[in-house]
Parts: sequence; C-alpha cells; structure tokens
Amino acid sequence: MSKELIISPSILSADFGRLAEEIAAVDEMGADWIHLDVMDGHYVSNITFGPPIVKAVRKASDKIFDCHLMIEPADPFIAAFADAGCDYITVHAEACTHLHGTLQTIRNLGVKSGVALNPGTPENVLEYVLDDIDQVLIMSVNPGFGGQKFIPDVVEKIRKVKAMIGARPIEIEMDGGITPETAPLCVAAGATALVAGSAIFKGGTPEHYKANMQAIRDACK
Ligand code: DX5
Ligand code: ZN
Repeated sequence: MSKELIISPSILSADFGRLAEEIAAVDEMGADWIHLDVMDGHYVSNITFGPPIVKAVRKASDKIFDCHLMIEPADPFIAAFADAGCDYITVHAEACTHLHGTLQTIRNLGVKSGVALNPGTPENVLEYVLDDIDQVLIMSVNPGFGGQKFIPDVVEKIRKVKAMIGARPIEIEMDGGITPETAPLCVAAGATALVAGSAIFKGGTPEHYKANMQAIRDACK
C-alpha cells in the first residue's frame, strides 16, 4: 500500500538486557516501525514478553509499534497490548476462534489490525475479513524463532494476497528469513513492509544496524 518500503526490525534479535537502548538505536538508524514478537510457549514453542515490557519500552521510540501476537487465545490480552502502546496488533488466524470478532475488538480500541498467515495457512482465511484489516503478515518461516531460513513457496502467496486486497489500504508485511537476498523477491511480488531480526541486529552496534537496514533497502530498489 505505502509508496515507501517499510522496514520493521524484529527486537527478537536485540539484546533483551538493553531492550530500550536497542529500540532507540534502530529508530535512530532508520527503522520505520518496531516489530514486537510476543510468544506464549503454547501457540509457539518459545516465550518472549508481555504488555508490561511493551509499556516500558514504549518510551524509547515514537515509531509505529508493530505487535505480532503468537499467543492463543489472543482476545483476553488485546486490551492490555493496546494500552501498552501498540499501534498495530496482528493475530494468527488459527489462534482466534472468532477471527472477525477479534479484529473488530482491535479496531474498536483504536489500533490497526492485522492477520498473520503461517507458511501452511492458505490465504483464503482472509476472504471475509478484508474490510476489517490494515495489514496481512505473511510468515516466511514457521513462527517461534529468529534466524530461520526463508521458505520460497510463500512468494506465490504474496501475489495471491495482493490480488485479493485489490485497492484496499492494507499493508503486506513479510516476516521470517528476510535478508538483502530474499527481500527483493518479496517486494517484487507485492510486499510493502519487511520484518527482519537477525539480518538487522547482526553486528550488535548502531552502525551495523544502519548498514544492515540500508543493505535491505538498496537490494529492493
Ligand atoms: C518469528 C518472528 C519473526 C522473527 C524474524 O516467529 O515472528 O519476527 O523475529 O527473525 P529473522 O528475521 O531472524 O528470521
Ligand atoms: Zn514477527
């Protein structure tokens, strides 16, 4: 949807002991959004953080907080994540018994809504919620961990989702295994936002983050 490519660093690959500092660093070095991976040890086999941590780091940046909920159920926690300062809340289709209702709950809190599709999830789950979402997050790895290899089959799914969306103002965000090599494939197929964790935080200094984000942007030009 957006004319400019959105780069959303996943803080899953940041130093959690210096989380606020790391968020401020990627913000200053050119991030458009900040991607927050919330995992519950149930929907995915990893655990990260919840609303109090999001609230605490909210002060570190004015950028869009792009919250990816890998939790089941999601509904009981949506208000807390909205209150913590998330600008987008994206839920997994499989993790919501009443997906349409969950998306309405998110929007009614004044937050932008998204649906995430796992690599094995068909795009047709979007068919009856297209007017209730601001973003589709297409997973290009199975959710749970950073540093996995990009699954090339998802490129075809990007094209299908783009066709379904038509003129609606909905971002297509890619998440998982995004690097300067894989990012251009996604953008050419219609992705408008790219999440990257390991490819952005590698090196561990703000100068590395700047160069790593620029390398992804340059590769997509
Ligand atoms: C995985 C998360 C991703 C992850 C991406 O479940 O949703 O956001 O941090 O990490 P990389 O870019 O390393 O694949
Ligand atoms: Zn994510």
